[in-house]
Amino acid sequence: MPMCIAIDGPAGSGKSTVGEQLARKLGYLYVDTGAMYRAVTWLALEEGIKLDDGPALAHLARHAEIVINHPHVADGRQYTVTVHNRDVTWDIRNSAVTRAVSTVSTHPEVRSVLIAQQRGMAQQGHVVMVGRDIGAVVLPDATYKLYLTASLQERARRRYAELEERTATHATTLPSFEEVLNDIRRRDDVDHDNMQPAPDAILVMTDHLSVEQVLDYICRQLEVVA
Ligand code: DC
Repeated sequence: MPMCIAIDGPAGSGKSTVGEQLARKLGYLYVDTGAMYRAVTWLALEEGIKLDDGPALAHLARHAEIVINHPHVADGRQYTVTVHNRDVTWDIRNSAVTRAVSTVSTHPEVRSVLIAQQRGMAQQGHVVMVGRDIGAVVLPDATYKLYLTASLQERARRRYAELEERTATHATTLPSFEEVLNDIRRRDDVDHDNMQPAPDAILVMTDHLSVEQVLDYICRQLEVVA
């Protein structure tokens, strides 16, 4: 298996921020698999596909031509996501998609289509892949596996701060802290079955750590494991 780093963890655990910075440090491609589930969800909402129709959603996923690439616009994005060549990088973050994505990602038919695509992306190596089931299911032979976590309160605090920043730059409405917390709690519940920490992952509890401290810790661990 070519050099791949798998990072899993719940919403708001810091896995995206850490994954993106780790990929940049190593010169690897950063693949946020959550963006793929979001892209399928966005397309389903656009095309009026029912969220309980697994086969129709899987068909959509198979033909969506989801591409994740290095960011080509300097507007704070970590990467650019396109669906049928349309830039949906910010659309897939909207609240309608965020509300619906857990339901879409529970369909085994959708998961098997996206998992096959994710394995294809990792084949080239030099990839940091982030999600919920990467170390256990998508890339069980990944070179390194990390599992990032944090308390519910801390994850909600981070997500709220992120939304505050995005509201300022993208003129969207800011939900209350309670709404953000309840949304993460609800997503924890729905995502529970798809959340599969690999037994051989390095566990990182990030509650009292800054992004730099988490990165530092991970880099030291990787040297130890290497
Ligand atoms: O990380 P995120 O919040 O952008 O993920 C969006 C949704 O996709 C989330 O509800 C869990 C799901 N997901 C998944 O089931 N498996 C993955 N590998 C990545 C995300």
